[in-house]
Amino acid sequence: MRIVDIIQKKRDNEKLSDKELEFLLNEYLAGNVPDYQMSAFLMAVYFNDMTQEELLKFTMLMRDSGDVIKFDEINRFLVDKHSTGGVGDKVTAVLSPILSALGMGNVKLSGKGLGHTGGTIDKFESIKGFKFSTTKEELIKIANKTGIGLMGYSDNIVPLDKKLYSLRDVTATVPSIPLIASSIMSKKLAIHSDVIILDVKVGDGAFMKDLGQAKKLAERMIEIGKGAGKKVKVVLSNMDEPLGHSIGNANEIIEAIEFLKGNCVDDLKEVVYTIVSLALKEKGEVRDFNEAKSKIDEVINNGSALKILGEFIEASGGNKELVNNYDLLPKAKSVMEVFSENDGYVKKIKTEEIGKAAMIIGAGRAKKEDEVDHAVGINIFRKVGEKVGKNEKIAEIYYNNDKNVQESRNMILDAFVLTKEEVEKPKAILEIIE
Ligand code: URA
Repeated sequence: MRIVDIIQKKRDNEKLSDKELEFLLNEYLAGNVPDYQMSAFLMAVYFNDMTQEELLKFTMLMRDSGDVIKFDEINRFLVDKHSTGGVGDKVTAVLSPILSALGMGNVKLSGKGLGHTGGTIDKFESIKGFKFSTTKEELIKIANKTGIGLMGYSDNIVPLDKKLYSLRDVTATVPSIPLIASSIMSKKLAIHSDVIILDVKVGDGAFMKDLGQAKKLAERMIEIGKGAGKKVKVVLSNMDEPLGHSIGNANEIIEAIEFLKGNCVDDLKEVVYTIVSLALKEKGEVRDFNEAKSKIDEVINNGSALKILGEFIEASGGNKELVNNYDLLPKAKSVMEVFSENDGYVKKIKTEEIGKAAMIIGAGRAKKEDEVDHAVGINIFRKVGEKVGKNEKIAEIYYNNDKNVQESRNMILDAFVLTKEEVEKPKAILEIIE
């Protein structure tokens, strides 16, 4: 078998056999296929797609390139919620304690933020002493105690994805639906769960800018799940404005805690309640959203979800008192208020721009190696559909270093697009695909 023949077949849109895909990926992982040949193959996939069989085989080979972790020791219905990346996306911090309070477990690999999008690891690491599990044993211990187990991606889990993703990044082959689907699903399938719920973000601040593309991606991931014998559900959620009010790290943890105290922002609430409802339905505990809603309301109103978040923070090395004392979180030295220069209704909030405005003051990373300042961030006070008066405060910037703060302010002002006509409040959940 020769690699060049495999590339040629993909170039000519001919179907590849399991053996050919096995040869290509195994030899690439072993270092026997040069990057220029793999690049040509990836570009051929970019243009010619993969059949369902090819995509499933490709994903399974990726999954099996490293450790596959099972959690037989955790006696709970396990949910793996995964977001494709957004701005202000603190869903994991809110969802995990709710799932746990409802008797389920949320065990997953979490990521760091990159570019304009944030990451769960950075948000929790704003808590002093907090350490993510680094081994399966540690994760199981914490998950058995609290129902929550979060671990960072390691080099041993789907190493092939790491290698391929770096190559895609520099060969303009990241935005390929089969390559994204296999990249995400190989990592999901490498970690055992009873249901995978994918939150595919759509819009200005997301990877998928339009609904049609996002739907295609969702369908391909569900297809892979089916082939692998795993239930996958997808919510397509709006990223044409940041989720909730806070964008950063420590401030997002505060917003998550406030949610668990019953102070929920509408869009975040819609996303969290929908995902929990899908999990409860899959577990067979509820028939519809309304039944799920009353169960979720209960664990928020009786404080049990908040208590679990505190326990999880403590089990991970942090001080659980911070759920009632935000002074225990890092605080930025300065605050800049941002006032609207016009009046009108908020038609759009350029979400990528807001993510970048937070990134340039240190809340995120421009490059993988950059350090995050957990104390800094942005809170916005107006959402799409709301009315803004001239000179009214629309945002606050929390910062430690004034180097980029003016630019951040200008970016926020530019991101708020106002109109004189009334604007309907957008839905946070655009579609559910089960
Ligand atoms: N997220 C992933 O894990 N992989 C991709 O290819 C894109 C987004």
